[in-house]
Amino acid sequence: MNQHALPETAPLPFIDLAAQRRRLGQAVDEAVARVMAHCQFVMGPEVSALERDLAAFCGAKHALTCASGTDALLLVLMAQEIGPGDAVLCPTFTFCATAEVVALLGATPILVDVDEETFNVDPRSLRQGLATARKLGLKVRGIIPVDLFGLAADHDAIAEIAGDEGLFVLDDAAQSFGAVYKGRRLGTGVTATATSFFPAKPLGCYGDGGAVLTDDDGLIEKLRSLRVHGQGKDKYDTVRIGVTGRLDTIQAAVLIEKLRIFPDEIAARNRIAARYSEALGSVVKVPRVPDGYTSVWAQYTIRLAPEKRDSFAAALKAQGIPTAIYYPKPLHRQTAYQRFPVAEGGLPVSERLAGEVISLPMHPYLDAPSQDRVIAAVRQALKA
Ligand SMILES: Cc1ncc(COP(=O)(O)O)c(C=O)c1O
Repeated sequence: MNQHALPETAPLPFIDLAAQRRRLGQAVDEAVARVMAHCQFVMGPEVSALERDLAAFCGAKHALTCASGTDALLLVLMAQEIGPGDAVLCPTFTFCATAEVVALLGATPILVDVDEETFNVDPRSLRQGLATARKLGLKVRGIIPVDLFGLAADHDAIAEIAGDEGLFVLDDAAQSFGAVYKGRRLGTGVTATATSFFPAKPLGCYGDGGAVLTDDDGLIEKLRSLRVHGQGKDKYDTVRIGVTGRLDTIQAAVLIEKLRIFPDEIAARNRIAARYSEALGSVVKVPRVPDGYTSVWAQYTIRLAPEKRDSFAAALKAQGIPTAIYYPKPLHRQTAYQRFPVAEGGLPVSERLAGEVISLPMHPYLDAPSQDRVIAAVRQALKA
């Protein structure tokens, strides 16, 4: 390929929050200014307005905002009264927060394998995880599937196992708010769905934030209490042990504005992913989206032979194209999680993926010339 095909070498951003900021412009400034004027920085009116908007967006009965995606997971597990002797099944190919919340409460995460094509929890490995728990004398209480990289997990298969075993399902949709599974947005059809508004997430705020979505009236009441120190009828009636887990009003104001443009951003991400896949599908293993699913493309992740990955990343970097590896080590290979049990049959797919995956720049503001640069650089690096 000659140099004319890649005229620009100025580094591209991996995620371009500044471009989104330019688009939002005054709307966000004014939303924040309104909070500065009314001074209700904690649990101000924007918090309940955002909760109504989030629930409506997902078609869920309730949304509860909170301080982070990790808190969203933790609050639900606290509401389920998880503790020592209990086990929760979760994938090993994920960010640590998925299993961290289980361990924080003194329960045991049992790490299971993922599916080769979707990178999401493999129902067969969930059954093997149940067998592991039985042998260890642990009581499995629930499953935390993860909708990795913006794509929903196989929720029907998970629901079947949960139904057979009487388990709750806490969906970790930290990377997948807005994703569609068989005609419905994530946020319904499970006990509860947790999501994150960390700035780099598909729907992010300007700091930390998260939310729980649920259709369960009893659960939402407990979560509201747990979010404010286990509060009962009033501040001095503490009925359970809780946390300070609220979302700041300023972040809620930001998210209300960002949610307005989110459907358009999801469409843009899907156009870019389709373009990448069309241009690269014949030269490298590109992500597959099963029929009936819509991804929100938190990451666009391709797979390479492990021995080629470093030189590929270096070749792209030389062209100003950043890449990222999510995740170079599955949880069971990380120091803090090595002590936890793994599903019978082992975790071979996660082991393999950790060596092969690499993510390309993906955000709604990646314009056509930048897409061309990424595509050309990938093709050139693969030829080398
Ligand atoms: C799969 C997954 N779960 C949970 C979290 C935790 O979210 P937060 O960083 O908002 O606590 C993340 C965030 O990176 C995540 O990717």
